[in-house]
Amino acid sequence: MAQKIAEEVYWTGVNDYTNDLFEGIWPIPDGVTINSYIVRGDKTAIIDIVKSSGGGSSASLNQQFKSVGIEPEHIDYIILNHLEPDHTGFLPVLHKYCPNAEIITSKKGVKLVEAFYHISENIRGVGDGDTLDLGKGKILHFYDIPNVHWPETMVTFEESTGVLFSCDAFGSFGAFKGTIFADEIPKEDIAFFEGETLRYYANIVAAFSAFVLKAIDKLGSLLDKIKIIAPSHGLIWRNPMEIIERYQRYANYANDYGEPEITVIWGSMYSNTEVMLRAILRGIAKEGVKVTIHKVPETHVSNVLASAWRSAGIVIGMPTYEYSVFPPMAYVLDLMKLKRFKHKKVMRFGSYGWVGGAEKGFEERIKNLNWDVDSILEFQGGPTNEDLRIAEEKAAEFARSIKEIPKKLIS
Ligand code: FEO
Repeated sequence: MAQKIAEEVYWTGVNDYTNDLFEGIWPIPDGVTINSYIVRGDKTAIIDIVKSSGGGSSASLNQQFKSVGIEPEHIDYIILNHLEPDHTGFLPVLHKYCPNAEIITSKKGVKLVEAFYHISENIRGVGDGDTLDLGKGKILHFYDIPNVHWPETMVTFEESTGVLFSCDAFGSFGAFKGTIFADEIPKEDIAFFEGETLRYYANIVAAFSAFVLKAIDKLGSLLDKIKIIAPSHGLIWRNPMEIIERYQRYANYANDYGEPEITVIWGSMYSNTEVMLRAILRGIAKEGVKVTIHKVPETHVSNVLASAWRSAGIVIGMPTYEYSVFPPMAYVLDLMKLKRFKHKKVMRFGSYGWVGGAEKGFEERIKNLNWDVDSILEFQGGPTNEDLRIAEEKAAEFARSIKEIPKKLIS
């Protein structure tokens, strides 16, 4: 059922519990919301729509629209802030209900409407600062925020209510648990939503961190006018600075070290690397640094990326596999490179059988990431007691260097 978020502004999205992988990659066991909004003046606009499944059925569309007293055929404008199909997949169906509705998107978006949906008429490409007057004081302003998340992305700002429809920016995974507003969630659920915001950021937005900072900078002149941030995924923020500052911190992890914490990512074929892992963990524990441990391939890379994005320190434990990097770790490293996981302090260890080879593959994968690799501990076969003593000592030294990094997040 639609819900009012401001005067004549309604949320009409869906809680997607289909358990599909988001983007065909990322698990969403606790769902995700695909938010869509209706703004009514004399004319009616729908801002972002939904994908073709997960509640985006014709029946649910009718029900949602009727709950705010309008018929889908009375939509005058379909505003598409971003053309990725999670926000546009339902366009062909919606377009049949309201064939006369004008599609409004960024200038770059026009081409994608045609490419994805083969619709080329009645589309307006708007530019930075353009406005659309819906009547009754409802004026929509459009601002390009390229590459948050695709090059064509824009945001829409409704002046009279101060609602910023920010699309992927300021979004998160995790379906609503009863309220759509961040300020109404019970304190027991705060950690869940913070975790899902970080995982969404690390999985979807991280590679575009420089553009996130540019977008926040660009929206700076609007900051005192923004009263509500209504993203296309996740909670709606009536305290906008809370999510803006969180995104700013996440984005800045790409420019500096993250939090003084360590993410340990490890995999082992016959437990030789695992034996050294225990010594490494003892060393870290001595220094009392927060550590998150992921075994690969058992842990999904989505979760690995989330804690690794936040952590200043990364410890990688893996054996050499066929003269190169252990394949599950190669997958993690390739994604870290793709997502531009820069500025990390790193320690690496692992076993090899004959001549090694993990180092070469590792170096190739982390090129240009500005990783500060403090120590590499490789051993043939199983580690000796002396290897383990050195590993524990080096891990403690590594943890001390992480402790010196200033904390940035409050929680
Ligand atoms: Fe939620 Fe980039 O789409």
